[in-house]
Amino acid sequence: STETTLAGYHFDNCFMNAAGVYCYDAAELNQVQASMAGTFVTKSATVMPRSGNPEPRYQPTRLGSINSMGLPNEGLPYYLDYVSQQQKAVPDKTYFQSITGFNIEEDEQLLAQISASDFKGVVELNLSCPNVPGKPQTGYDFEMVERILTRVFTVYHGPLGVKLPPYFDIVHFDQMAAILNQFPLAFVNSVNSIGNGLKIDVATERVVIKPKHGFGGIGGDYIKPTALANVHAFYQRLNPAIQIIGTGGIKSGQDAFEHILCGASMVQVGTALQKEGPIIFERLTRELQTSMAQKGYTKLSDFRGKLQYL
Ligand code: DHB
Repeated sequence: STETTLAGYHFDNCFMNAAGVYCYDAAELNQVQASMAGTFVTKSATVMPRSGNPEPRYQPTRLGSINSMGLPNEGLPYYLDYVSQQQKAVPDKTYFQSITGFNIEEDEQLLAQISASDFKGVVELNLSCPNVPGKPQTGYDFEMVERILTRVFTVYHGPLGVKLPPYFDIVHFDQMAAILNQFPLAFVNSVNSIGNGLKIDVATERVVIKPKHGFGGIGGDYIKPTALANVHAFYQRLNPAIQIIGTGGIKSGQDAFEHILCGASMVQVGTALQKEGPIIFERLTRELQTSMAQKGYTKLSDFRGKLQYL
């Protein structure tokens, strides 16, 4: 079985969408809901609806994807209404609401709206959008992360985790884990896209997306080794009460197996879901079951976090 538990909730399947993919509106979320995915996360909601950056702003590539969406979303009340309907329609499932404020006050405002609603699920606070012109990725400002989490856990008491950008230095893993361990986080989700890559079309000698002169977040095959390193680095360092969601480069059941071996309790699919659509969850689930059967594993806890060293 590929079932899992996160934040005290049971999920029939460890696979779900990554925020930003197949989760912009009810039509997309309905498709994930109708698939084999264990649950869904919404597009990161802001206080006000946003149209995002100019198009084209997402381009698949041979080895993954580049995007500079700019947080297009319908605004938090839209997603809270949708989740509320799903909670009533399928009450035995738990859903994720992604949010991202443009400052601490907005984070607080978003969490106040969630508290005032009938939302019963898990909040994923996105600290890592790389694509809003002039706004740095919060996750790279360590003091700011500590300030935000201090405020967040003062005002919000439901299950909440953070979506982090990838880190590339062992000292940064140490420093970020020390900050995260101060707080009652339900989970850490690693990784968001590798920020501000550049994909070029040689024939036309042009960039492939319009915003920011073609710079954008990189996903897919390019980022799997970085994602696995971040998942395992946090698995090694975090208080065991803080679970890990693994995101980055998952396009097969074996990729998911690797994330789980590194310590992930849940796995999210972005670039490959965008390419293949929610039917992908059937293949991924079957392939993960096959990988497990070949090794004699019957449940994720048989191998979760059990990566061997030389
Ligand atoms: C957006 C893109 C990302 O890769 C991300 O992590 C968050 C937000 C966006 O541009 O909407």
